[in-house]
Amino acid sequence: IFGPGRPNSRGVNLNVRSQYQPLMEAMAATMEKEHRVGPLLAFEVADDPTSQHEVASPYDRRRKVGTVQWTSAEQAARAVDAAWAAFPRWEGTPVAERAAIVRRLGDLMETHMAELMTLCSREGGKLLTDGVDEIKEAVDFCRYYAMKAEELFGKPMPLPGPTGESNQLMLAGKGVFAAISPWNFPVAIFCGQVVAAAVAGNTVLAKPAEQTSIVAHRVIELLHEAGMPRDVVQLLPGDGPTVGSVLTSDPRITGVVFTGGTDTAQIINRALAAREGAALPTLIAETGGMNAMIVDSTALPEQVVADVIQSAFQSAGQRCSALRVLYLQEDVADRVIEILDGAMNELRVADPRDLGTDVGPVIDEDARRGLSAHIEKLKAEGRLVAETRLDPALTGDGTFIAPVAFEIDGIEALEREQFGPILHIVRYRASEIDRVIESINGRGYGLTFGVHSRNESFADEIAQKIRVGNVYVNRNIIGAVVGVQPFGGQGLSGTGPKAGGPHYLLRFATEKTVTVNT
Ligand code: NAD
Ligand code: ALA
Repeated sequence: IFGPGRPNSRGVNLNVRSQYQPLMEAMAATMEKEHRVGPLLAFEVADDPTSQHEVASPYDRRRKVGTVQWTSAEQAARAVDAAWAAFPRWEGTPVAERAAIVRRLGDLMETHMAELMTLCSREGGKLLTDGVDEIKEAVDFCRYYAMKAEELFGKPMPLPGPTGESNQLMLAGKGVFAAISPWNFPVAIFCGQVVAAAVAGNTVLAKPAEQTSIVAHRVIELLHEAGMPRDVVQLLPGDGPTVGSVLTSDPRITGVVFTGGTDTAQIINRALAAREGAALPTLIAETGGMNAMIVDSTALPEQVVADVIQSAFQSAGQRCSALRVLYLQEDVADRVIEILDGAMNELRVADPRDLGTDVGPVIDEDARRGLSAHIEKLKAEGRLVAETRLDPALTGDGTFIAPVAFEIDGIEALEREQFGPILHIVRYRASEIDRVIESINGRGYGLTFGVHSRNESFADEIAQKIRVGNVYVNRNIIGAVVGVQPFGGQGLSGTGPKAGGPHYLLRFATEKTVTVNT
């Protein structure tokens, strides 16, 4: 349903098999390799048997992907020393040279696509099709930010001045950035943050998510191979609070670029604010969403369902952009729910390495437990509308959750973002549309939003009234494209600027006006 590999009763489509065959063969070659990785710092790090952490595959916890040596608090502090010392040299490196390194990383990731996809699948439980999108997005980030850096940092901007005076505006790096990333886009978001900060002239301390440090390690190895000095971008895998608190409490950290949960962003914000005597830092936070879609009575039910299925359940609902609350006007609600139920029956929850799988596992046991508790509670309240069947053979050693849809009274009923394949449906009357918009805006999140309607003025009015970062009309609400749909939210969903947008690099830069009396 999501990708080209949906099987029919005779198995996977042959064209798809041949299209993906070379990638699958290359993936198979590294599928069983056991990795052993650790911090990549400006200085050598000795093996430490006491700080090794095992990583297992979400689709089968018995399968070990490898071990990760976590960064200690002392090593993190030394890494800040090195980043601080490297900053003046890196900031003075011509932007064309910085951009060339970032472009080379993009090329290397393309060459190593199969290897990176294998790791995304083994560590992050990603589907093959999601893996292709993920690596392509990371490559796009490299090429887009390299191009934008040359445009913005390449030469000073001349400004008007009276006779006898010249004025120029120049951009430069700010200092040392901590880049803290989530597991759900372990290559694209991780790489986007790092290359944006570095190409703008900052040194970078990259802290990947605990669950996906092995693929992050491979990306930084490729970045070093592309020519990035080891003291300019360092990798600090490890525990969020331990490594995070060293980074966010150090007065030499000039900025933090963070993607993850809203609660974690608030912890980081407080830590930065509590630093005594430190320069005021930049915080770029991209956080969670409680994303809604409004469907009116003029919408096409079949198209609505196709877009809802994709928005709510692709990537097992583990996208910040994913649809959580579907508002259906009462005239079409029964028809949409009937088709939705049929479509959900067709979804296949299975091993993400199989081309015919629609929905892979959720990231880990904590996630599975939290989602299951929410599902059980709504089931006990008699709110179930539709549910995909979960093959009992799958449940043993993988963290699978079958897509499920519930009817609720309104977005206010949801206490927190449910980061998995759970859809909530609310019926509304046409006369209640203003109240619906008020309650979506009033919930405080503002990431993505969708509207399905063939009434253009209705869609325009809603798109204008809703307070979110990305509005999608008559389509799904996921998969923003770099340079085409700049991505990021407002309110509880983040500070901006938008990733993959023309203003992103500006937030990593300091501006200097130079006035010369000629
Ligand atoms: P998370 O907040 O648990 O972790 C994100 C990162 O923060 C990890 O690297 C973690 O180790 C680190 N961390 C944890 N505690 C820390 C602390 N005290 N100090 C510093 N760093 C700390 O999020 P997650 O579970 O990895 O990712 C899922 C969340 O990310 C969801 O809420 C999702 O909506 C959000 N997300 C947002 C976007 C976006 O662009 N808006 C994109 C992807 C994911
Ligand atoms: N950029 C990702 C999307 O739009 C999160 O789905």
